[in-house]
Amino acid sequence: MIDPMDELLEAAVAAARLAYCPYSKFRVGAAIRAGGRIHAGANVENASYGLTVCAERTAAFAAVLAGAGRFEAIAIACVDAPGGSPPSLLSPCGACRQVFAEFADDATPVIVLGVGRMTLADLLPMAFRLR
Ligand code: THU
Repeated sequence: MIDPMDELLEAAVAAARLAYCPYSKFRVGAAIRAGGRIHAGANVENASYGLTVCAERTAAFAAVLAGAGRFEAIAIACVDAPGGSPPSLLSPCGACRQVFAEFADDATPVIVLGVGRMTLADLLPMAFRLR
């Protein structure tokens, strides 16, 4: 039986291949399990740089627009990071952590390729939430 978290990580790796990142050449993929299916995303860069959107947020917004409801699990893969990279190079940025906190609970599992399995609260303790 395939571990559902491994399956999610595989989806994140596959999504990274679709990244549009001609400037950084740093492909990132994210996959979110929600509403009975997997929603994937990849980073999409822009010539203006500041308009770049991270993989985690393209995946999150795809899940929201699919009407998927609460996020049950999240996987992230920085496929161009060299082997043995520190967690700081592999983990989601602060903005994406806050977006996850909108749609996922503190206990929601997050698996980060090359780092391991954690919860959203491990990544973002005391997240800001209005409800
Ligand atoms: N990136 C992500 O997709 N997720 C993160 O959490 C950090 C950074 C992307 C943005 C940009 O396209 C590239 O990685 C280098 O910063």
